[in-house]
Amino acid sequence: MPKPVSQVLHAYLYKEERFGGYETAFLENEEIENFYVAAAKLLNCDSDEIAYVENATRAWDMAFYSFEFQAGDRILTTISEYSSNIIAYNQQANRYGVEVIFVPNDEYGQIDVSALENLIDERVKLISISHIPTGGGLVNPAREVGRIAKAADIPFLLDSCQGVGQIPLDVNQIGCDILCGTGRKYLRGPRGTGLLYVRREMIEKLEPPMLDLHAATLLSPSRIQIRSDARRFENWEQYFAGKVALGTAIDYACSWGLEAIQARIYNLASCLREKLGSIEGVTVTDEGVEKCGIVTFKADQRNPFEIKNALAKQKINVSTSSSAGSLVSFQHRGLKAVVRASLHYFNTHDEIDYFVTILEKILRKKTD
Ligand SMILES: Cc1ncc(COP(=O)(O)O)c(C=O)c1O
Repeated sequence: MPKPVSQVLHAYLYKEERFGGYETAFLENEEIENFYVAAAKLLNCDSDEIAYVENATRAWDMAFYSFEFQAGDRILTTISEYSSNIIAYNQQANRYGVEVIFVPNDEYGQIDVSALENLIDERVKLISISHIPTGGGLVNPAREVGRIAKAADIPFLLDSCQGVGQIPLDVNQIGCDILCGTGRKYLRGPRGTGLLYVRREMIEKLEPPMLDLHAATLLSPSRIQIRSDARRFENWEQYFAGKVALGTAIDYACSWGLEAIQARIYNLASCLREKLGSIEGVTVTDEGVEKCGIVTFKADQRNPFEIKNALAKQKINVSTSSSAGSLVSFQHRGLKAVVRASLHYFNTHDEIDYFVTILEKILRKKTD
């Protein structure tokens, strides 16, 4: 988290400590509402099309589980889809007899747009893809998918958990009807925060799988009225400090500019990929025509978990990505796990050189 974001978070918590939760929410109403304004600016939509949800997964779930599927309906998704989303597809497939179709990849490893187009027919009720999958630097061609979805009048759900804060996202240019994002990754916000965008025309068509007295009003003992804005997907009780801090994180990202952020990240990432590619035994595993700031690789010499631990001893943080989060993609590619080095704009070329030097040393050694 950048300082201005953590300061806002701490200040809000301090006010809760001093004045109480309800009192602080009342006093800070403008800051709380700023979250919607900031998120709408980030995505180029209206603030009533935004909901605050506790993470990207739950934001996605609230929208996905609102679709009423019937036997024989089809969901089109990608091979690179996030496992959590595939679990939800399967749950609905088992309940309602929905068919889940994995659209093949093209030769670059991204969703094959012509294959997607060929699969469109009256059975398809939803196109749902991960924009930037969890297990690599791939950026799926969301705009092309949006064009196809729009032409066929099929709802398009985009999981851009890892896109928000990393690349410019304009829901109108992309043509998605629903988009979810997380606070804790490229937006540099607090953990346990997320956002959901739902296009206005879609909001009234989607009845959330769960309602509470924030999402709906109890008009009489037997009558309810669901909110008409995207807040129908929210909970009454929320992490308000996180909401204010997420709004600040979005404003902070926008103050740098998403084009500038993307250019810096892409430049660093391509530099790292190039350097990794020249180390003997190392294979960069990122797919796609467009590759983002997530750089993944494997090495013949040592497994990804050993590499991560050895790097941690040198105070270099990377993570590993295993087939748990990317089962279909990793099975398709014969991968078990990869090292995942995520770069942000605050990283430097010197850090990349240092990283590569340390990595080479680690790969030369058999143990630490
Ligand atoms: C594509 C994708 N969607 C969703 C998530 C989950 O986000 P959150 O932790 O905010 O639920 C991840 C996390 O890695 C992800 O990569």
